[in-house]
Amino acid sequence: MTQDELKQAVARAALDYVVDGAIIGVGTGSTANFFIDELANIKSRIKGTVASSEATAARLKSHGITVFDLNDVDAMPVYIDGADEIDASGAMIKGGGAALTREKIVASVADKFICIADGSKLVEVMGQFPLPIEIIPMACASVSRSLAALGAKPVLRLKDGHPLVTDNGGWIIDAGGLKITNPRALEQSINDMPGVITNGLFARKGADVCLLGMADGVTVLKF
Ligand code: A5P
Repeated sequence: MTQDELKQAVARAALDYVVDGAIIGVGTGSTANFFIDELANIKSRIKGTVASSEATAARLKSHGITVFDLNDVDAMPVYIDGADEIDASGAMIKGGGAALTREKIVASVADKFICIADGSKLVEVMGQFPLPIEIIPMACASVSRSLAALGAKPVLRLKDGHPLVTDNGGWIIDAGGLKITNPRALEQSINDMPGVITNGLFARKGADVCLLGMADGVTVLKF
């Protein structure tokens, strides 16, 4: 199976977690896109969605799926999204698509985080994938220095030769070179750096379920 076929398989399997009549939180990225396309087939069964990025909102709307403003939603049974890395505790690195802040906000309102990922995303120790950190632009140098003091190699994410600007007007620093043995503590200490909007560690509130696409089918991990 190709990586895309594995992503498609977990996206389809995630439909089992969609609650009829409910509002569903929807993530960002290539795996989430497969999920959106699957969700379109059962859109009459749900009340609507909350999107974790402008790109996801546009894709949902292109399928005729209702997108609510999070401020108009009190609760959601599930948030369904991909990950860049996930460990055996359900902690994840997210933000490869630069949507980490809205992803964390929408996920915080949902009862359960359903992670959908191809099997390559499951790792023993996270950090091989550089940790994305969304920052206020004026704090780029100071946050980079603080990250370097933690042993990271911070790199400002560029697009067309300029800093990539997120949906929130922030910039992204990708922190490579980390061996993340205590994701909860690192999530807190990076968030404590002045100028950090949020970082891509989802450890204090990680995945509740992970649907992992493997060559022999979808494996369900519960945390
Ligand atoms: C988006 O900002 C990310 O958090 C994605 O969820 C993550 O990068 C996984 O993306 P893919 O599904 O494209 O691998």
